[in-house]
Amino acid sequence: MTAPTIESILHENRLFQPSSEFSNQAQIKSLQDYEQLYERAKADPVAFWAELAEQELHWFQKWDQVLDWQPPFAKWFVNGKINISYNCLDRHLTTWRRNKAALIWEGEPGDSRTLTYAQLHREVCQFANVLKELGIKKGDVVGIYMPMIPEAAIAMLACARIGAPHTVVFGGFSAEALRDRLNDGKAKLVVTADGGWRKDAIVPLKDQVDKALDDNAAPSVENVLVVQRTHQRIHMEPGRDHWWHDLRQGISSDCPAEPMDSEDMLFILYTSGSTGKPKGVVHSTGGYNLYTHMTTKWIFDLRDTDVYWCTADVGWITGHSYIVYGPLSNGATTLMYEGAPRNSNPGCFWDVIEKYGVNIFYTAPTAIRAFIKMGEHHPKARDLSSLRLLGTVGEPINPEAWMWYYRVIGGERCPIVDTWWQTETGGIMITPLPGAIPTKPGSATRPFPGILADVVDLDGHPVKDNEGGYLVVRHPWPSMMRTVYGDDDRFRRTYWEHIAPIDGQYLYFAGDGARRDDDGYFWVMGRVDDVISVSGHRLGTMEIESALVSHGAVAEAAVVGKPDEIKGEEIVAFVTLESNYSPSEELEKELKKHVVQEIGALARPGQIRFSDALPKTRSGKIMRRLLRSLAAGQEIAGDTSTLEDRSVLDKLREDS
Ligand code: WT7
Repeated sequence: MTAPTIESILHENRLFQPSSEFSNQAQIKSLQDYEQLYERAKADPVAFWAELAEQELHWFQKWDQVLDWQPPFAKWFVNGKINISYNCLDRHLTTWRRNKAALIWEGEPGDSRTLTYAQLHREVCQFANVLKELGIKKGDVVGIYMPMIPEAAIAMLACARIGAPHTVVFGGFSAEALRDRLNDGKAKLVVTADGGWRKDAIVPLKDQVDKALDDNAAPSVENVLVVQRTHQRIHMEPGRDHWWHDLRQGISSDCPAEPMDSEDMLFILYTSGSTGKPKGVVHSTGGYNLYTHMTTKWIFDLRDTDVYWCTADVGWITGHSYIVYGPLSNGATTLMYEGAPRNSNPGCFWDVIEKYGVNIFYTAPTAIRAFIKMGEHHPKARDLSSLRLLGTVGEPINPEAWMWYYRVIGGERCPIVDTWWQTETGGIMITPLPGAIPTKPGSATRPFPGILADVVDLDGHPVKDNEGGYLVVRHPWPSMMRTVYGDDDRFRRTYWEHIAPIDGQYLYFAGDGARRDDDGYFWVMGRVDDVISVSGHRLGTMEIESALVSHGAVAEAAVVGKPDEIKGEEIVAFVTLESNYSPSEELEKELKKHVVQEIGALARPGQIRFSDALPKTRSGKIMRRLLRSLAAGQEIAGDTSTLEDRSVLDKLREDS
């Protein structure tokens, strides 16, 4: 089993129809219905979104203009007033959903908790009032560095309620990475926990926050709000650090949702790009609310009795859009799991599905590949008959893994939605609508209604069917990122200038290569830039290189991805050393540790290869293409004539 290659998926022509039982009860029931919807949206995207915004969401005040498009800057529902926390909570309280489970939490070790809509609303209001007491006002950025506990979602919703943009930093990021993000966003407060459970150990989140803030290294941060989770001893800095359970004592649970401008910033979420510094992706309120609402409803085909489970972490966009905002806006029951599959508990996901009767299950290809390895006796030993629909996200899924998921987990009864999207797109862009679009293993199939996706060449011209090209989107959509925080220029350069606008029409460039087949199905091939995906986590090669060269021993570093059976890609770093250092196993260990310290465990290189020099072009550019082939153990193909010094390559090859 390998990560998908063009060869393996070019020959994939199996087609899976949803059962008529599934289709008959689905939100969108047939291919014809999908196509009608798609054509209607394409003919007039603005009218399409306006109608849904009116039907599906609560607005304090209606907009004057649906879309104001000054490429590449979009404003949706101009002057509309809305609050996403209101749409996720308050509006359900006057319905029968008041006492429906909003959030089911399965914690480690063996803890669990269920919050109804009324209970979640109350917690969010109290949390918001505590934030206000700590001086947080509309427009102040709040950092959230949390384990997967209900308070992570509560903190997000509390921020949204009072108009304080949140910036959630994944709990696996290091103190250094956290500090960079807090500084870039000028966060005024950090919400964290004493610790979190990760596999069988405690992650010392609060210690990391202390490190990030030490020596006034993140001067914008005035307060830290700490949720008690693991009860180990932590340092509490007087005047700066506060326990949530102390401050909530006697706090009012009355906190009306602030009417926000549709374009007010809802959150910043950092993601890796092809240059060193992670970018702060900015999402705004109204359009994001609408798009995550509609995609959750139609793609996951929600029914009011469903238990819906997305296994992502709230630190990623998937957690934002499809654990918290999309499901709650729909009044769904969303499940949040603190645990992670590991050798000591290989069946834990299946236990959760059985325990709660999960109906919709959304996970990542890397997890599926790990489950295949663990053996099908684990899922087979549990009752998974509650499942109705499966989803995947994060990277291309290889047809073998798709088939296993379909057969072993879905019992050949559940459609699979392979959902392509990005932090930048805010919501799912290319995906089957499960009752309508027959699936092909490895293809994300067709664009969501209102999404004018295409595959083009560098001049912006559509390529022929089955020819590879760049994946682009032709028309703005409601949840598109608004800018890179504090850097409009980088936004323009990264997403809108690689492919030239034709006739004044700007194309959003996703950074992925793709192919469209004769049926109009999209096959996403993966990144075309210097971004790699390790277990579905996106990392910039330059970011890891910068971390490596910040170590005194390293003169130069080049990082590439090497295909990996389970993780999709593994990080291989080619390193040249300063003259007073020589290669050793200890140094290799130390450098790996250094990267973990600078970025986090997710960026730990699998391999470090020392070399006297790196292969470069005459103009001094490192030829990563050659290094990729070397790392993968492949023959060096293609042109090497631009190499400055061929012997460098020969030497590297000898060493491998
Ligand atoms: C990149 C975005 C969006 C949630 C998780 C990742 C890759 C994502 C798929 C898919 C093929 C996929 C792309 C994309 N990707 N989903 N279904 N098929 N590739 O978000 O960290 O912003 O990464 O993930 O390369 O550009 P992200």
